[in-house]
Amino acid sequence: MERSLTMELVRVTEAAAIAAGRWMGLGKKNEADDAATSAMRKVFDTIPMRGTVVIGEGEMDEAPMLYIGERLGLGYLPEVDVAVDPLEGTNIVAKGLWNSLSVVAISDRGGLLHAPDMYMEKIAVGPKAIGQVDLDASVEDNLKAVARATGKDIEDIVAVVLDRPRHAKLIEEIRKAGARIKLISDGDVAAAVNTGFPDTGVDILFGMGGAPEGVLAAVALKCLGGEIQGRLVPEDEAQYERCIKMGLLDPKKVLRMEDMVSGEDAIFAATGVTDGELLKGVRYKGNIVTTDSLVMRAKTGTVRFIEGTHRLEKKPNLVMK
Ligand code: FBP
Repeated sequence: MERSLTMELVRVTEAAAIAAGRWMGLGKKNEADDAATSAMRKVFDTIPMRGTVVIGEGEMDEAPMLYIGERLGLGYLPEVDVAVDPLEGTNIVAKGLWNSLSVVAISDRGGLLHAPDMYMEKIAVGPKAIGQVDLDASVEDNLKAVARATGKDIEDIVAVVLDRPRHAKLIEEIRKAGARIKLISDGDVAAAVNTGFPDTGVDILFGMGGAPEGVLAAVALKCLGGEIQGRLVPEDEAQYERCIKMGLLDPKKVLRMEDMVSGEDAIFAATGVTDGELLKGVRYKGNIVTTDSLVMRAKTGTVRFIEGTHRLEKKPNLVMK
């Protein structure tokens, strides 16, 4: 894959974040999502690549843009798989909370998991704990393994879990094992990525969230040398069949890094929409907009933080509202 695509992808997430950030705190999650999606769609079509969305905003009949199977880019080579989440954390933006992102990832064609927009059980850790956790092991064993690998006591470990009734037992088990917990309202991509950056104070992500978010996190953790394991959770027979149609022979098997990102090379880009541990949200001042982005490449392991200053009078395409 072309190295220059890293910068192109940042342009994509910056545009989506700038469009979505305007909706912060307005209580309108769908409007924020639509703004991010159309901004992202527009920029994708300026990029010299032949992309196919393999996991993202849902199927063609339920998502007007960036649906699974949609073609993106100017149409020239390279041919790439695309995973998208124009606005990861629609409720976060609607309420002006922490850690909403605009996120994309690409890999060589055939290099990303092709799956429906459905639930996935996940466990994610940073580089120190790679190879030490197991989705099927007990919560206590996983926490002990992370403690050992990071040289911490179990009570110093911070686990992030989406605050959902379905996680009541998981939360109880983490508390029983003695670790600390950060319950989040939304946004498990940021939580997974944070495990790769010790300064965020996040050691492990547990629990069930979206599958597209799982694949996006897998690309990020591949770039960072961390690990995520997942298992798709079909909610009914139709979803199970849809997985089979998409080429997943055993939809309930544990997915490892190589199942989610099999391509040798992959690129992850994210721009903060609201403030988070790793990235600040979009700042607006008149015609000047400032963004914070993270872009990483698996092949080289390069991690870049990019602060962008955008002059809206010179970029009318970024004015969405
Ligand atoms: P949206 O941006 O689509 O609202 O997703 C936010 C999110 O919290 C993800 O981070 C997470 O993977 C998923 O939703 C969890 O789904 P649910 O809200 O159904 O529990």
